Amino acid sequence: MFTVGIVGAGRLSHVHVRHLSRLPDIRFVTFDMHPERAKALADECGGSVCESFDEMLTRVDAVDIITPNDAHAEYATKAIRAGKHTFIEKPLEVSTIAAEGILEAAKDSKATVTVGHVVRYFAMYRRAHEIVKAGGVGKPAAIRMTRGGGMPGGEGGWFADHSRSGGVFIDLAVHDFDWLLWTLGPVTEVYAKSVGAKVGMGVDYGIATLTFADGAVANVESTWMDPTESRTAFEVCGSEGMIEFDSRNCPTLRSGGRLDQSFLPEDDPFFLQLKTFVECAREGKPAPISVQDAFEALRVAEACLKSAKSGQPIFLV
Ligand SMILES: NC(=O)c1ccc[n+]([C@@H]2O[C@H](COP(=O)([O-])OP(=O)(O)OC[C@H]3O[C@@H](n4cnc5c(N)ncnc54)[C@H](O)[C@@H]3O)[C@@H](O)[C@H]2O)c1
Repeated sequence: MFTVGIVGAGRLSHVHVRHLSRLPDIRFVTFDMHPERAKALADECGGSVCESFDEMLTRVDAVDIITPNDAHAEYATKAIRAGKHTFIEKPLEVSTIAAEGILEAAKDSKATVTVGHVVRYFAMYRRAHEIVKAGGVGKPAAIRMTRGGGMPGGEGGWFADHSRSGGVFIDLAVHDFDWLLWTLGPVTEVYAKSVGAKVGMGVDYGIATLTFADGAVANVESTWMDPTESRTAFEVCGSEGMIEFDSRNCPTLRSGGRLDQSFLPEDDPFFLQLKTFVECAREGKPAPISVQDAFEALRVAEACLKSAKSGQPIFLV
């Protein structure tokens, strides 16, 4: 048996346990600052509730941290230091300062530690990465990425408090920043504007321009202000051609303003990322997405927020 401790029993945790339950010999324990939420999740997955995180650490092989963004470091650092395999939802934290402890703990750890940059497991984003890496568009020059929909709520409305969520660059565009760093390499400069950067609360919409070390430029749009269905899209243009994807043009299930990309269960990106994590942990291997990768994506997101606050470009070395 492989026991997974789910920390935070909110919206996404129900998705995680649904996918983890499909793996062989998995058992759950749950913990939430609201015990009734931990109980509801435990009832759903046939697990049991822990009264404290310290109790959880005595009962598990792995910890899956799905709390609001500003509580990731508190649990992740402790779990990694206790030698537990650790899955941390994206973003790594709300700031690089807050994330430093996780990075340090992960460097010293022999356990499998990874971060939920699930976009790498979406078939179209994975394929686009492979095409670009194989030179399919020639030398990448100009990239456009779009992501968003309505404002997520979260328990007690924590997404609207940017000191807890980070706002759109840190919470949402971080998915695209991770894909871009994975595919195109380091970013040297960002320039960004957003609705929420100076306000620090409520709805948010941001546009960021990233310059890469190899000269390519990417425009990343992220929104919590689109009243229609959620959407993701990209366009990668290079010296030899262009590839594009728009979720609005793909076969989908649409209901009540929600868009549901219909994956076969074995292709579901959330299933694939959790299956990879558990397999790596069971085999004693590092996971493909490292804490360092997630830290770099957070660093770009944070630079965008800083640029949007100051009105100045930010240079990254
Ligand atoms: N990968 C993705 O595409 C994706 C999608 C949605 C959310 N997320 C991430 O998942 C995480 C959770 O998001 P959600 O939408 O499930 O939020 P949510 O508000 O629905 O759930 C959070 C849960 O954590 C609990 N909680 C809050 N503070 C806590 C603390 N200090 N200790 C223990 N429990 C605490 C809350 O009671 C709640 O049950 C966030 O990091 C979010 O960014 C990722």
